[in-house]
Amino acid sequence: MFDAKTYEKRMEWFNRDRFGMFIHWGLYAIPARGEWVRSKERISLSDYQKYFGAFNPSRFDPAEWAKLAKEAGMKYAVLTAKHHDGFCLFDSKYTDYKSTNTPMGRDIVREYIDAFRAEGIRTGLYYSLLDWRHPDYPHFTDNIHPMRGNPEHKDEDRSFGNYLEYMHNQVKELCTDYGKIDLMWFDFSYDHLTGEAWRASDLMRMVRRLQPDIIIDDRLEYGSALYAPERKTVYSGDYASPEQVIPPNGLRDENGRPAAWEACVTMNNNWGYNSTDNYWKPADMLIRKLVECVSKGGNMLLNVGPDANGAIPEASVQILRDISRWMSKNGESIYGCGPSGMDKPEFGRITKRGNTLYYHVTENTVGPLPLIGIDIQNIKSISFLDSGAEILTASEWYTKQAEGVVMADLGPDPVLPDRADTVVKVELI
Ligand code: GLC
Repeated sequence: MFDAKTYEKRMEWFNRDRFGMFIHWGLYAIPARGEWVRSKERISLSDYQKYFGAFNPSRFDPAEWAKLAKEAGMKYAVLTAKHHDGFCLFDSKYTDYKSTNTPMGRDIVREYIDAFRAEGIRTGLYYSLLDWRHPDYPHFTDNIHPMRGNPEHKDEDRSFGNYLEYMHNQVKELCTDYGKIDLMWFDFSYDHLTGEAWRASDLMRMVRRLQPDIIIDDRLEYGSALYAPERKTVYSGDYASPEQVIPPNGLRDENGRPAAWEACVTMNNNWGYNSTDNYWKPADMLIRKLVECVSKGGNMLLNVGPDANGAIPEASVQILRDISRWMSKNGESIYGCGPSGMDKPEFGRITKRGNTLYYHVTENTVGPLPLIGIDIQNIKSISFLDSGAEILTASEWYTKQAEGVVMADLGPDPVLPDRADTVVKVELI
């Protein structure tokens, strides 16, 4: 059933591109209190309906989003086509609860795909298996539904089978009507709703039939942040999707081999727009987290949450611009790179591609930089990746004690050229 060769082929771009943009956008941008606002505040459907009638973003410009992603070095993107609230950002024929029926009147998914493809960025779609609006989705007995435990919303006459039909039909629409989709990001299994409760095998087979090269995450079954999907079922998914956490030691599959994974990370603490959440991760930190993911064999999917007008928050734009500055000069140490197989150095991290090592120096050393783990006979060149300037090995008497350890002389300035991460490129023979 599991064909390793086809799988490896399918995963090539994913394991090479390493860095993507996650985009959470929908009606919840209007209340501006995050994408779970309906559940957290137990907002009734009728009270939430006002956001549907008000959804008319004046600054929605997917070309601008795509340009920002491209400049930041993001090679793929994932947009919420439908989040837990059931609002569809695409012109589904199975519902009236969609962006084309709001005052905006546009198919957001269509415009997103066209704009990101035009920038050469691979396009993925996030689709929530949950649906707090659909009448046949459990309300009263569900643990997270906005109307959970509300006696006015008993579950007697709901047909989950009808909901599954609706959900499968929508996924079919997304896989049929929008051209090539590179990635399907299902979210999420919980309690008894996992695996075949979603008719996951049928769903997975249908997606793969319609989009033979598509990559699919692991959330059709109750995935975990720290375990790779054991490919024992049709719906195990192609990679693990740790959320707001980077697996301490990367991830290995059931055979002990490095597994594909992608850490999805918010820039603040919310996926959807939250006007009061200004706890922004500094760009330097996010650059180092991307390096950490790659050094452990994973990807980073970094989220933006556009506001009710469709604009990516200025703080996020600034972070992306700072990341772009670093990526434009150091992307070579990210793309197509992975673990070095060496111990993490005290001064930072190492990524590797073929015979080239990239030492990511985030904390300068006293004296020369010890390139532990390589033999001087095997070194072809040492240089700063950014400028290309040659780096000589140190010859001072005090480096002699470091028997066998290659000591790179980064120069007299204790302040590194790039405070986020100065990359030392070592080409091996
Ligand atoms: C969790 C959240 C969901 C978010 C997703 C992103 O599943 O419930 O709101 O879209 O994480 O990874």
